[in-house]
Amino acid sequence: MTHASSRLFLFLGAFFFVALPALASQADDRLARGRYLANGVGRCFWCHSPLNDGDPATPRPETLGTGDVLDPETPVVAPNLTPDAETGLGRWSETEVVRAIREGVGRDGRALRGDHPSAYYSVMTDEDALAVVAYLRSLRPVRRSLPRSTPAKSRTETVQPPTSPAKATSIRTPLERGRYLVQLGECLGCHTTTTRQGTPFRELAFGGGRRFRLEKGFGFEYAPDPSFTPSAKLASPDETKLVASANITQDPSGIAFYTEGVFLQTIRTGRVAGVRALSSAMPWVFFKEMTDDDLKAVFAYLSTVPGVRHRVNNTEPPTYCPLCGRRHGLGELNAPVQR
Ligand code: HEC
Ligand code: HEC
Ligand SMILES: [Zn+2]
Repeated sequence: MTHASSRLFLFLGAFFFVALPALASQADDRLARGRYLANGVGRCFWCHSPLNDGDPATPRPETLGTGDVLDPETPVVAPNLTPDAETGLGRWSETEVVRAIREGVGRDGRALRGDHPSAYYSVMTDEDALAVVAYLRSLRPVRRSLPRSTPAKSRTETVQPPTSPAKATSIRTPLERGRYLVQLGECLGCHTTTTRQGTPFRELAFGGGRRFRLEKGFGFEYAPDPSFTPSAKLASPDETKLVASANITQDPSGIAFYTEGVFLQTIRTGRVAGVRALSSAMPWVFFKEMTDDDLKAVFAYLSTVPGVRHRVNNTEPPTYCPLCGRRHGLGELNAPVQR
């Protein structure tokens, strides 16, 4: 062996022993990050998987990511995300999948229905979006053909407007990370009501009152909510089955009584302070997969949002609320808004 070729040999040896394992472990990290986001704060399989009949309902592992019919009438269908070439994402490029997730644009360039919460995912960093795609590609490809959703007539206004992706460098402190996770987790969207016209109630941000009905483990927004007038008595015959989102601000009418420990306990157990069971219209069963550090960051950020005076309680019978215009427990105790 000449001197030069032995050097090359050493170099290649070093590459195989040092660089390749390093690359492989980078790929492992990316996959783990994608799995964490998709199954946790991103809650992809709440929609994109058949759920079991449990309470809380959880995705069936053997059909994970194979899509599901959310509403058979419209229909609204969350497509198969496994790498199957015919019925899943097998032929999609990485860029196409990222665009669908963050921008709500289908492979054919058409807008996806707002049921896919792209406005919330729009903030996802490039690294995180690619991690989710890498994870989806690691799913077992399953051939499962589903009908397509009926395209939405228009884009519905989301409480949280779409943003440009965050940069990894801008989500380093716990508060920054908490804000990022709250954005990805759609906390603002579910915990903020809208006016009769569907415009988000900015003054009631995180103040709760939005109503959901739970069906087959999935929390559908009860929309358009026909409350809005005190005389609209029982707005629907099964009103008792509706659950209003909670006020998660630090106002005394909200979760001022929460400590960080209570917050972690609530999300992890699906019981407020370990006691009252939360409806699974609140996707705690996914959020409970988040790390302690991430949940603490979420709580830290939530503690900085302005308090909203709005009493909402799901253990009391619904009454008309002059503040948010809906019927929910303790509604009658809220002061009308000056408009
Ligand atoms: C609340 C339900 C819901 C959640 C949560 C959700 N999606 Fe979707 N998603 C949908 C629906 C419904 C569609 C189809 C919309 C349409 O066809 O107009 C869709 C479409 C998509 C598409 C386009 C697929 C295709 O064949 O056109 C991709 C990719 C996708 N979602 C990925 C994800 C990922 C990744 C996550 C988690 C980070 C996620 N979704 C979370 C409901 C959801
Ligand atoms: C799909 C809608 C939805 C999303 C997304 C959502 N929530 Fe909720 N949340 C609800 C509903 C509905 C309730 C009320 C459940 C009940 O009272 O049984 C609730 C209740 C809660 C409670 C319990 C408050 C109490 O003590 O009564 C907390 C805390 C909470 N949510 C925090 C969050 C956080 C943090 C996020 C984002 C990471 C989030 N939620 C995202 C719908 C949602
Ligand atoms: Zn209200």
